Amino acid sequence: CIENSKETKNVHDTSSFEGEQVKKAGSDSVECDGKTAEECDTEEKGSDVETSAQRKKSQKAQSTGRRERKDSTPAVYVPVERRPDIQESRLQLPILAEEQVLMEAIRENPVVVVCGETGSGKTTQIPQFLYEAGYGRDAMIGITEPRRVAAVSMSHRVADEMNLSRRTVSYQIRYEGNVTPETKVKFMTDGVLLKEMQKDLLLSKYSVLVIDEAHERSVYTDILIGLLSRVVPLRTKKGNPLKLVIMSATLRVEDFTQNQRLFKIPPPVIKVDTRQFPVTVHFNKRTPGEEYLQETYRKVCKIHRMLPAGGILVFLTGQAEVHALCRKLQRSFPTACGALVKKTAESKETKKSKNEAKLPKIDLDNYTMEGEEDQADDGILEEDIDLETHIVGVDDDDDDMDDMDDSAATPTSDADLPMHVLPLYSLLPPDRQQRVFLPPPQGSRLVVVATNVAETSLTIPHIKYVVDTGKVKKRFYDKVTGASAFQVTWVSKASADQRAGRAGRTEPGHCYRLYSSAVFADFQTFSPPEIARRPVEDLVLQMKDMSIDKVVNFPFPTPPDVEAVKAAEQLLVQLGALQHTAKPKNPKAAQSPMVTPLGRAMARFPVSPRFSKMLALGEQHGLLPYVISIVAALTVQEIFVLSGTPAGGPEEQAGVKHVHSRVAQLKKTWAGQGQSLLLGDMMVLLRAVGACEFAGCTRKFCEENGLRYKAMTEIRSLRALLTNAINTVCPGAKVYVDPNMRPPTELQAKLLRQIVLSGLGDRIARRVPADQISDKSHKFAYQSTSMEEYVFIHPSSVLTKTCPEFVIFHEIIETGKPYMHCVAAVEQEWIPLLVPNLCTFSEPVKDLPPTFDNDTGRVKCHRTSTFSKLGWQMPSVAGD
Ligand code: CDP
Ligand code: MG
Repeated sequence: CIENSKETKNVHDTSSFEGEQVKKAGSDSVECDGKTAEECDTEEKGSDVETSAQRKKSQKAQSTGRRERKDSTPAVYVPVERRPDIQESRLQLPILAEEQVLMEAIRENPVVVVCGETGSGKTTQIPQFLYEAGYGRDAMIGITEPRRVAAVSMSHRVADEMNLSRRTVSYQIRYEGNVTPETKVKFMTDGVLLKEMQKDLLLSKYSVLVIDEAHERSVYTDILIGLLSRVVPLRTKKGNPLKLVIMSATLRVEDFTQNQRLFKIPPPVIKVDTRQFPVTVHFNKRTPGEEYLQETYRKVCKIHRMLPAGGILVFLTGQAEVHALCRKLQRSFPTACGALVKKTAESKETKKSKNEAKLPKIDLDNYTMEGEEDQADDGILEEDIDLETHIVGVDDDDDDMDDMDDSAATPTSDADLPMHVLPLYSLLPPDRQQRVFLPPPQGSRLVVVATNVAETSLTIPHIKYVVDTGKVKKRFYDKVTGASAFQVTWVSKASADQRAGRAGRTEPGHCYRLYSSAVFADFQTFSPPEIARRPVEDLVLQMKDMSIDKVVNFPFPTPPDVEAVKAAEQLLVQLGALQHTAKPKNPKAAQSPMVTPLGRAMARFPVSPRFSKMLALGEQHGLLPYVISIVAALTVQEIFVLSGTPAGGPEEQAGVKHVHSRVAQLKKTWAGQGQSLLLGDMMVLLRAVGACEFAGCTRKFCEENGLRYKAMTEIRSLRALLTNAINTVCPGAKVYVDPNMRPPTELQAKLLRQIVLSGLGDRIARRVPADQISDKSHKFAYQSTSMEEYVFIHPSSVLTKTCPEFVIFHEIIETGKPYMHCVAAVEQEWIPLLVPNLCTFSEPVKDLPPTFDNDTGRVKCHRTSTFSKLGWQMPSVAGD
């Protein structure tokens, strides 16, 4: 059925792009053809007028079983010869009933939204409808997926269903694909399409783009939809229309349909009604904590032993968990081949995967265009999980049988059924993924242990029971450095319901939630879109790197705060990641700074811009391991045990005092002399990280040396994470986590001071002459860019005695007084050179005549400089 059917003849809006342009990489600009809203409207309305006449024609054609074209749509029905069994199973899919309505809507509207329950046939069937309607004749039908697993698996499925080769129905994911010049239907990740748009904004190779899983609201899907909302009318104007189909598994599509900035007139929504059988939801009485994996195992065992035949689908959070549970189940029950998996073979496998897990290897796709949550456990951050050591007495523990339904009262004859256990997660090779779609061997029970790829991306047939841990891995961003990591968290209510729905596709089913109804009541209704959680600075830089210059006006489905976007742009200009173009083509373009080569280098690093600048410079000077350690350490609030009045009896007090004096002594040693001391608290951090790593980061070492064990382990993880991220994005860097990191040399310490200044340049403070300070409790006060009142170096800093004239700090925290934390000294003459965007420069100074640089063949002249914000006079600099 069509919602908004009155709006079927839709007009595509461009008004909110406000004359903005989307530019291609480099300085060549592919303008949105300077299209104004009015032009666009008129044009599309023009085509609207034709539509109703053509619709009649097309209806006539449809009644004769043929599809007719209007100017903008393909001409010829392309027949597909499907195998009879495929044809039969297709006919069961609810989307088939909507084919005509859907194709009509697509024919008549530039943008159509399709909503249908998971499993209704959207992903596998709509590309086929489009192909048969001739959209693949002169150009490609493109389908984007947020997950690679779906792109690969769906391309294979559609090729098979249509009896076409994989040369015709292909996929492209990052680094891998089987696209050929003959490809007509192309499945790809959204990241791949975004990259293609940088080269060809108008996507001239495609006649239709289908954005699948739009409800997931991944940041790249949102950006794609924003970009495509502008590309579609441009293509219409060029006489080569592009159709956009947005597919969602939920009905919550207002951000796309009711968003005037995106589409002035709401696109029609085609709802696909799905036959869904009732699913009885059972909550656990108590919610397991860390041991939810054991609880999952117990529940699967019980279902298998007590309940009638029917597949079980288990939702876990990541690959390691999936494997652990699969192994354990395979060991506990006869497999479909009739044998228990031999322990010896298993233990070898366990050992092997444990060794693999030790390798400092993390799939850093997490940081790139194709981040997928369930890959995050490929690295050292999580240990391989061995359920064996945790599980006891599963067989006789029947305490909570009453939360199963009545039919479970007595064990069924299925109790001795073999179990056909299959894992499912993003990185599973496609042929192994494919196995979940096949019927299990005769007489066995299918158990699919999956990550949330099985929630909406892939529909697994033959499922009657769902076991839901209620957990998912989500990317969380560090507020300080912007570094992100995946953490396990509760799903939303919408996700939990989606998961439950998987049990009722072919007959009534049951969903066992391994958490209490009280816990469920606290779940968020929907997960907020990723764009709302991502740090704005990082988003702006990433978009600029994608050659999207006008981020402020960008038609996001859910826009970030405009002021925050502007502030982020300003910071990026300050850091030199963006630059205002010298000669803008039009005055509006001048307001939109473009990405610089430094900005491009920074965009590769998965941290916020201040830190990515330090990393980019660290890479340039071969100092990456040090910079990584500093960045990792800065994310952690305090690495030393907190000072203050020791609590407890005299013995404890003496102990605490001992630790404090140890800390003071260590800080002094670690700070050293010369350049090392001038690197100040950053040097202390660096040496603490090095020393702790050398000692194996043990709790004992930390306690003996007054270091917070938790902080040090966090730093350790983050170092590994960043190191791996950098190796992935810059393979030339070849950086590794060195357990024997030597302290930096004098020269290296000096360079590190400069690097830190480059990143934290606006967090600078200058010593105030002593006679100007009324607060005599401090030797020196500082004037900073951050606040009007004077600030002080925190007493715990190693630079309290030195009190250099210029310092940079990591943050100011008010504890009685505004104290600068994590301070390093910088030289005045570096400031105009390293943070030029914070300085103003005079005209060339006459007293200092220009010089000719033989090496570069350029004339250098001298200018005086001022630190703009505070009017400090800076030394003169020579430049072009
Ligand atoms: O996209 P949507 O969730 O609406 O459904 P779909 O992914 O197109 O799946 C339609 C049907 O095809 C489901 O019943 C799947 O189980 C089935 N399918 C399959 O048997 N093998 C595949 N490789 C993919 C889907
Ligand atoms: Mg789908």
